[in-house]
Amino acid sequence: MANTNTDKLFGGDALGAYAMRDVESVAGMLQSGSISVIWSLAELQDFFGVTGDVAEIGVHHGRLFIMLCLAMNAGERAFGVDLFGDPPGANKDDHDQFLANLARFQIQPDHFDLAVQDSRTLIQGQWPGSAGNVRMVSVDGDHRRDAVLRDLALAAASLNEGGVIIADDLFNPWYPTVTEAIYEYFWDRPGDMEPVAFIAANGPVETGAAKLLIARAGFAARYKAGLKLLNQDDLKHCDAFAGYADVPSFYFAGQPSKRPLDAATAEILADIT
Ligand SMILES: C[S@@+](CC[C@H](N)C(=O)[O-])C[C@H]1O[C@@H](n2cnc3c(N)ncnc32)[C@H](O)[C@@H]1O
Repeated sequence: MANTNTDKLFGGDALGAYAMRDVESVAGMLQSGSISVIWSLAELQDFFGVTGDVAEIGVHHGRLFIMLCLAMNAGERAFGVDLFGDPPGANKDDHDQFLANLARFQIQPDHFDLAVQDSRTLIQGQWPGSAGNVRMVSVDGDHRRDAVLRDLALAAASLNEGGVIIADDLFNPWYPTVTEAIYEYFWDRPGDMEPVAFIAANGPVETGAAKLLIARAGFAARYKAGLKLLNQDDLKHCDAFAGYADVPSFYFAGQPSKRPLDAATAEILADIT
């Protein structure tokens, strides 16, 4: 398998520079462990030839959304949805800050669509506009059980074959309803979507929490192998979860880090996948 998708919309170094440095200039909930693994995930998708749009439910000031945008290749688009207050849009400061942050990274209105509305009003299979062709979607909106279950279903319906859900706040003691919903999601959907990696929380709870990557069964083994390879220094162990075997857990003590997907790692990856 070749590294086919390298036509980066914002340049080949933009994602790495953001992960290693610039992310700190954007307020929000995304810790260095999640940054490291999502960075690897984006590189693996390029390697595996997974193309498509990126999306997030709950963008806040754009800390993760910008990272997803900087991973985009030519021809891809980003989709976000956020309430920005009650009624939707009432929190003009947050909305303005989101737009200003994107502009700082040269992410222009023709690169993304933002829906300022309750994700409950979105229809499965119709959001985002390119539903069925999304390769990464973050679920980080309303944290109540029913809302998480609904957003996970919305996210899953948006994905293409190699697409991945980035589910936020698993095991966060502030939001036990998220853990309840994610666990329930797997028991209700045997054999379709699988957990592929836990990213443990590694900072104060107000800066984020653990995340779980979820992919279709057909791609799960490839993502697990790739993430274990690129983040082997921070792989702690593999455990069964919700009936699925061998889910790797990553814990990062410090700054974002990963091994490069260079010729040597690409050869190993091609061999093992
Ligand atoms: C934890 S923050 C998201 C953090 C963000 N992902 C980041 O990278 O920093 C949760 C966001 O979800 C939004 N939200 C909450 N309930 C929502 C709903 N029902 N529909 C859409 N957005 C919602 C909030 O307005 C808030 O901006």
